[in-house]
Amino acid sequence: MVEVVDETDDAVSIALAVPDHLVSRFRYHPGQFLTIKIPTDRPGGAARCYSLSSSPHFENDLIVTVKRTPGGYASNWLCDNARPGLSLTVMTPSGNFTPKSLDGDLLLVGAGSGITPLISIAKSALVGGTATVYLLYANRDRRSTIFGTELHDMVTEFPTRFTVEHWFESDQGLPTAEGLMRSLELFSAYDAYLCGPAPFMEAARSALHGIGLPDAHVHVERYRSLSGDPFADVIIPSDTSAETVSATVELAGRRIELDWPRDTKLLDVLLSKGYDAPFSCREGECSACACTVRSGEVSMLKNDTLVDADLSLGLTLACQSVPVSESVEIAFDQ
Ligand SMILES: Cc1cc2nc3c(=O)[nH]c(=O)nc-3n(C[C@H](O)[C@H](O)[C@H](O)COP(=O)(O)OP(=O)(O)OC[C@H]3O[C@@H](n4cnc5c(N)ncnc54)[C@H](O)[C@@H]3O)c2cc1C
Ligand code: FES
Repeated sequence: MVEVVDETDDAVSIALAVPDHLVSRFRYHPGQFLTIKIPTDRPGGAARCYSLSSSPHFENDLIVTVKRTPGGYASNWLCDNARPGLSLTVMTPSGNFTPKSLDGDLLLVGAGSGITPLISIAKSALVGGTATVYLLYANRDRRSTIFGTELHDMVTEFPTRFTVEHWFESDQGLPTAEGLMRSLELFSAYDAYLCGPAPFMEAARSALHGIGLPDAHVHVERYRSLSGDPFADVIIPSDTSAETVSATVELAGRRIELDWPRDTKLLDVLLSKGYDAPFSCREGECSACACTVRSGEVSMLKNDTLVDADLSLGLTLACQSVPVSESVEIAFDQ
């Protein structure tokens, strides 16, 4: 950890320097997040995801911005204990809340700490693309607004490409779908990225629906705490009597042949054999482990992230997939 900056009374930005030999593994896209192991004596550990607020286009350090959750463990631990010199265990960046292109026009709609991935997307599009970016940003009041000064400076630097509309609850009340529709009605041809507390997201989604923005153009990042420990080692009992199917897995340019036990999730099989398969939450919530079923059939025990459009492309979550057919062919091609 190289620097800690107080952003507001209850939010800090933490800059992490990546050791030289890991730099290539920590390359990221704007909108992605890090999973951080928070020191704790709690059984099961405490792992939490934090979106990167830095831009991979011009910032060397990886910066996360953490807002205190009242009564929460990890956010308060980080706000109280983060200081230069502290080391943290962190997974490589993941997540698919990231624009395919930085040249198409972007509508960013956020509230509170939801600004974190949005400012990374905005900075990256302004510096690394040609997009016009419109940000609607809701907060309690001006004082609680994270990145208020930085956003103002960005508008000054890119006056024709970047617009910020602040919504202060202290002046306008809580954002409603009708109110948001009035602010967003000109942007029905943009690609929308939404991040904020659940009630805000609900209002924003129905506002976007109301202005006629197709669902396929609405991208959502949902904040929540992980309940399990994705840092824990995966050990599959060697005496399992479960029947196996044959699997062919394409991973990082390699073709791997496996016996896949019917009762074991694909990601667990791969990790237990030492393969470097991508993952973050291991709980079916982030899609870092998404892969394509090329042939055969699998079933997912849980899926809180892939939408119908993803499923129709044959995507599945390796951390939740067990085999159904006698043989399966899968590719990590996302
Ligand atoms: C992809 C992603 C990106 C994220 N990015 C960011 C970001 O950029 N910035 C950010 O600040 N956050 C971000 N988050 C949220 C973050 O991961 C944490 O969820 C958040 O910091 C709260 O964690 P916590 O440990 O402080 O709270 P927790 O300890 O998980 O508690 C959360 C809430 O539950 C309550 N609670 C806890 N235990 C119990 C219990 N036993 N019974 C009843 N209530 C209980 C707490 O009082 C609190 O209100 C992101 C999440 C995801 C998934
Ligand atoms: S690792 Fe998060 S959904 Fe599989």
